[in-house]
Amino acid sequence: MPVRSLFMTSSNSRIEPPRLGEPYLLTPGPLTTSYAVKEAMLKDWGSWDDDFRAMTREVRSSLLALLGEGADDFDCVPMQGSGSFSVEAMLASFIPRDGKALVLANGAYGQRSALTLEYLDRAHVVLDKGDYLPPRGEEVARILAEDPDISHVVAIHCETSSGILNPVEEISEVTYAAGRKLLIDSMSAFGAVELKPTEIRYEAMVSSANKCIEGVPGFGFIVARKSELEAAKGNSHSLSLDVHAQWAHMNKTGQWRFTPPTHVVAAFIEALRAHAAEGGVPGRGGRYTRNRDVMVSGMRELGFETLLDNRWLSPIIVTFFCPADEKFVFDQFYNLMKSKGFIIYPGKLTVVDSFRVGCIGQMDEDVMRRVVTAAKESLEEMGVTSAAPPLRALEERAKLAA
Ligand SMILES: Cc1ncc(COP(=O)(O)O)c(C=O)c1O
Repeated sequence: MPVRSLFMTSSNSRIEPPRLGEPYLLTPGPLTTSYAVKEAMLKDWGSWDDDFRAMTREVRSSLLALLGEGADDFDCVPMQGSGSFSVEAMLASFIPRDGKALVLANGAYGQRSALTLEYLDRAHVVLDKGDYLPPRGEEVARILAEDPDISHVVAIHCETSSGILNPVEEISEVTYAAGRKLLIDSMSAFGAVELKPTEIRYEAMVSSANKCIEGVPGFGFIVARKSELEAAKGNSHSLSLDVHAQWAHMNKTGQWRFTPPTHVVAAFIEALRAHAAEGGVPGRGGRYTRNRDVMVSGMRELGFETLLDNRWLSPIIVTFFCPADEKFVFDQFYNLMKSKGFIIYPGKLTVVDSFRVGCIGQMDEDVMRRVVTAAKESLEEMGVTSAAPPLRALEERAKLAA
């Protein structure tokens, strides 16, 4: 049997299903990419050649254009490696060695930024809100007022470990009202959620190729104010992750300093064109929002409950509580979902069992309806009669409402 027939069901989807029949990745990246994106990797490119330099220019200018008005004050610096490499590059390059950061943590990626600063030996304090509670403007303002040494605030845009969309607008307001600077990890949100400098002030942000632009993994990018890029000279602890050096070299030669992921860049250009054709950030964000709404309402109809109420749900990924029914075993549920063509994601909450379903990548509402059907059938096959979570999970959730 050809592999592709495994998961082919009748579909009204306008997006072509994975052509080789692999399961959809309902994960926050790497995610399901289009065939055109994968096909773009079939050609080899010389990293020093004019054609590839033009490709690098296109990547940088297209990403900058996503900022909209005010983009002229910024520049875009692609950086080899996974997203964490770009986060580390941003923190090391823009927080001076005698600076001090306030990290706003409500999940794994906030914690990772704090750990990165520890490795970098940069002074920092952490506002730790636990698994998901959002850092709010008033508490950030209070900490900044009490500690004049803090020079930078580090915020996570969508904290992918719970799926919460953090209130970066109010965080930005209080940060600049206190005369400090904001750095944003927008890894999983950029490209689907607006981050316009005319609406949210910040100095730098990072994201990566394999998130909402729908490229494949291999590089990240830092978008920073030109004034900060100029001032970053000499800050970084690292040769390869020095954003200033990468920026200066790219501007001078059009090349990356060290071997670039040429095929990934070619794929990313294809992904950027599809992003523009879909209507840019509003178009992409609109499809992901519809994906989320269809999937969440279907899962709720089955009896599943989300960790977050609607006000905090991102269009990127959603955390569901595992059902209390003792016949529900996550590993079994995972395998059943995979056998039906959908790879879901384990949860990252520390207090209650959970799992996550991503809304990003090459899929639409029709696919999300099939995800819900697959979840229903998987529960039936496991003999689970109720998807309702344990009381403890609902008590945990009440903290957010309080
Ligand atoms: C918000 C956020 N920050 C950082 C990262 C780390 O990126 P990577 O796993 O590519 O290193 C991720 C990955 O999903 C993320 O969602």
